[in-house]
Amino acid sequence: MTKSPCDLLVHGASAVFSGEEVLEGDGLVIGRGKVLETGEASSLRECWDARSELDVACGVVAPGFVDAHVHPAFAEGRAGEFSLRSQGADYQEIAAAGGGILSSVRAVRGLSEEELSRKVADHFRRMRCHGTTACEAKSGYGLTVEEELKSLRAIAFAAEATGMEVFPTFLGAHAVPEEHRENPDDWIDELCDKGLPAVAESGLARAADVFIEGIAFNLDRSRRYLEKAKEVGLALRVHADQFEALGGVELAVELGAESVDHLEVLEDRGLEALALGTTFAGLLPAVPHFLGQESDAPARRLLAAGVRCFVATDFNPGSCPCPSLPEAAHFARRRLALTAEEALTAITSTAADSLGAGDRKGRLIPGHDADLVVLDLPDIDHFGYFLGENPVRTVVMGGVVQE
Ligand code: NIG
Ligand code: FE
Repeated sequence: MTKSPCDLLVHGASAVFSGEEVLEGDGLVIGRGKVLETGEASSLRECWDARSELDVACGVVAPGFVDAHVHPAFAEGRAGEFSLRSQGADYQEIAAAGGGILSSVRAVRGLSEEELSRKVADHFRRMRCHGTTACEAKSGYGLTVEEELKSLRAIAFAAEATGMEVFPTFLGAHAVPEEHRENPDDWIDELCDKGLPAVAESGLARAADVFIEGIAFNLDRSRRYLEKAKEVGLALRVHADQFEALGGVELAVELGAESVDHLEVLEDRGLEALALGTTFAGLLPAVPHFLGQESDAPARRLLAAGVRCFVATDFNPGSCPCPSLPEAAHFARRRLALTAEEALTAITSTAADSLGAGDRKGRLIPGHDADLVVLDLPDIDHFGYFLGENPVRTVVMGGVVQE
């Protein structure tokens, strides 16, 4: 039998996880950056003539991780706030006093576009070390139309520089900027009249996001922003129910948002709305850990109600300085009671589906992008078990083994 040529044969896995289930066999075949076939390496060798091979030495193979909620366009950390919180201050008090997001805004405004681009690329490289091969990426620390466009251009530059596949989101409604403190409606007007149309026109973002919360935007302002975002053709992603249930979840579902994320204080009416709609729930369990918040998103109830849930890091300088999806998965297992397979599904196929990219990302099935990770774990049950240790041994992006 003549064999077909291919670029890479991966073999020797203790398990190959497709993004939804454990597959038969210990390997897969890659060609032209795509998965061609999965199965037992001995049978694959009979049909394929591989230019090179990757022996994964009993590691677990899984799709490259997809981080569907990330704030990478920041300049520096906020360790001072972490200390203040250890002494009793809470996240909302720090924000209300002009710290929090607004202090990151001051730092971003102080950087040139080139300097910010280098920071974002550095953040993407740190994420990739922990297995992330595709991510959503929000602006949101510029908070003037120009500074937001600068952030989105920095995200595009960093994606190109690192090879990270990025799904950019305009988060112009992250906080009320200092200069609009007295009249937040002026900022919403500017976002609707100028910001959202400019972003849509530029093609620099595929979605828009808003932080619906007492310390950020109320329901009326959020509705105005989201309706305009929809009108200019952007998909919607929403922050809601992190500290207060203001009706943001119901609004997100009503407007057909792709996802509504946080949900630490989700109430029954929000859960009922999610169960009836198509909006994904974004679970960010490392955030309440980092903030010392006791409540968690009711992941088991959401899953039981049929709501599709992804897990993400929320990597940002204020509420979760964590670039690692395996670490987030640990908290998903510990705090949200997800199984190892559920956690892996939540950071691969479901995360990709929430970004409208499930037809090529987040799954190791024929025709999908050959993005994969090799995990230094004896079996899938150990995923999320270790903490403070990076299980990712090798990352492959588009069929290319990353150094
Ligand atoms: O998702 N909640 C709003 N945004 C981020 C925090 C941003 C920050 O504190 O800098 C979050 O937790
Ligand atoms: Fe966030």
